[in-house]
Amino acid sequence: MMTRIVRTAYLGLLVLATGCDGWTTPSGPPASLDAELRQSLSRWGTVPIGSTPAQPPALVDLGQALMFDKVLSGNRDIACATCHNPVTNAGDGLALAIGTGGSGLGPSRTLGPDRQFIPRNAPTLLNTGLGAPYLFWDGRVANLGFGGGGGGAFQTPAGNQLPAGLPTLLAVQAMFPVMNRGEMRGVPGDHDRFGNPNELAEFGDCTPPPRSPPSRPRRSPGPTRPSIAICSTTMRR
Ligand code: HEC
Repeated sequence: MMTRIVRTAYLGLLVLATGCDGWTTPSGPPASLDAELRQSLSRWGTVPIGSTPAQPPALVDLGQALMFDKVLSGNRDIACATCHNPVTNAGDGLALAIGTGGSGLGPSRTLGPDRQFIPRNAPTLLNTGLGAPYLFWDGRVANLGFGGGGGGAFQTPAGNQLPAGLPTLLAVQAMFPVMNRGEMRGVPGDHDRFGNPNELAEFGDCTPPPRSPPSRPRRSPGPTRPSIAICSTTMRR
């Protein structure tokens, strides 16, 4: 009887042992969190940032000065860096950006009276200068030459009104926020933060350039189309 009990117990243990086959004991925390992160990132083809071409220091200084200067805006109250603030990762920490008329910075920035949210989120600008095929959430400012395909040509809502000779996609893009009424230009009747009339806001808007040429040639040249600065205000951002 005793022998049978012992035999059954052994059999039970054997079954348990077989059932546990494949069970791995947790081996504790990863040897290095960095190594684990690196392995995870490598699955997405992420590579370290390579060396970038040296930039003329004077241009870097100019770019920095413009980025932080509210004088670029019609109401002299908002700079690029208001929405692309280094403190909030070159974004603004808000779901929807707040343009001219607003006050404060980062997530606590508030709308000015009678102003609307910019209908889009301000993306971070980190690493944007490393090269991108397109910018903006809908990709409407695109580098047709990205990857060697288009000989440095850009596609933007400004069509053929884009000034020639802009060297990079970022330079092309920088033309737009200052012309956008909600972001930086303001609306007719605005006064800047020093109490002066906002002259930039007084320029009228025009319709964007046609997508395709008119079917019949025009008899007269027609009114001169205002500069890109004015036309692009109609471009939704
Ligand atoms: C009122 C806030 C605001 C201001 C001021 C502003 N931006 Fe932006 N920026 C945005 C928003 C919102 C977008 C996304 C717009 C879209 O996709 O339609 C954007 C997009 C961009 C992008 C494209 C990023 C990407 O990855 O697609 C660049 C570059 C940029 N802004 C640079 C600038 C520069 C330069 C200035 C100043 C001349 C400026 N911004 C001023 C809110 C702002």
